[in-house]
Amino acid sequence: MASTIKRIGVLTGGGDAPGLNAVLRAVVKAAINIYGWSVVGIEDGFEGLLGETRMRPLIADDVRGLLPRGGTILGSTNRGNFARKRAEGGEALEDVYQEALRNFQRAGLDALIVIGGEGSQTIAYEFYKLGMPVVGVPKTIDNDLMGTELTFGFDTALDIATEAIDRLHTTAESHDRVMLVEVMGRHTGWIALQSGIAGGADVILIPEIPFYVDKIAAKVRMRESQGRHFSIIVVAEGATPAGGMPVYQDTGGGDRAARLGGIAHYVADTLTPILNKECRVVILGHLQRGGTPTAFDRLLASCYGSAAVRAIARGLFGHMVAWTGSEIVTVPLERCVSAIKTVPPDHYLVRSARDLSISFAGEEDQN
Ligand code: F6P
Repeated sequence: MASTIKRIGVLTGGGDAPGLNAVLRAVVKAAINIYGWSVVGIEDGFEGLLGETRMRPLIADDVRGLLPRGGTILGSTNRGNFARKRAEGGEALEDVYQEALRNFQRAGLDALIVIGGEGSQTIAYEFYKLGMPVVGVPKTIDNDLMGTELTFGFDTALDIATEAIDRLHTTAESHDRVMLVEVMGRHTGWIALQSGIAGGADVILIPEIPFYVDKIAAKVRMRESQGRHFSIIVVAEGATPAGGMPVYQDTGGGDRAARLGGIAHYVADTLTPILNKECRVVILGHLQRGGTPTAFDRLLASCYGSAAVRAIARGLFGHMVAWTGSEIVTVPLERCVSAIKTVPPDHYLVRSARDLSISFAGEEDQN
């Protein structure tokens, strides 16, 4: 069946991630060169579909030189559901969705590519149920999206976190310090787990394995007894003490999404008097999202962008492109947004880490 598509929209939603521009480049190149469609970029995520709308045509010239560029040329917002703010102003949520849908139709768009994480794909799925032909592209440094082995952006964040751990090793050793490095990841520990293994951490704290501070102390003491007077602890921002709660910088409200952050300070402050040893904290924060994507993320982003265009040509709406570990496939959005992808506590990476004497300071960890 010949495709009736002529004009497609694309937007980037949620927090930025290295590789967003590479996806845009691939979408524009494939849509224009292979299918002869035109492409419209929607600015600032879904918010560009509201009110006066913020849209602009994207042509080959707009995406030239974008492969290595971090951020997103379309802009993005990370404030939770795009319609919530308007709904809190008194409008019905359904009306806000309908307004965006009408603007999408008025712009003459035949399909929409949504490049985003779990929040953006949840909104994309809502639009799909309202009749909008959408295809998702999985983005997030957290790698917490269901339905795909990998999101683009993760590999770059992992490299940045690993380099930071490497650098902290030399200074920690020189000063006989315990250094805690807090990494992002929302309520999952993928960045902490993998950078911790790659960087040779002594302790890794992840949200999926509640930790005990006395087990962290025991690990540090054991190292001391072996003549190693420094320790590196990688802390996922969503890690929680057993029986405790995550630490937030901002619990959110209004148009502000909740922001995790600060758990490493809690651990350091609790550990210091137990160990009687200097414990210092480094919070990597947005450094993990900024700058140029790794070669792998450029590759993944390019494959995802072109696969999303192919999915539109095949009429695979309500799907997200995904990576199985060996090929690019499409997965129903319903499945991708059903839950976040957490680290299974018996994951092979967790087992490998324990075999390498890395402690998670959890119930099962001896030392
Ligand atoms: O989802 C990506 C991410 O970087 C998380 O790891 C982090 O918790 C959050 O976004 C931070 O969001 P913001 O940039 O809005 O503070």
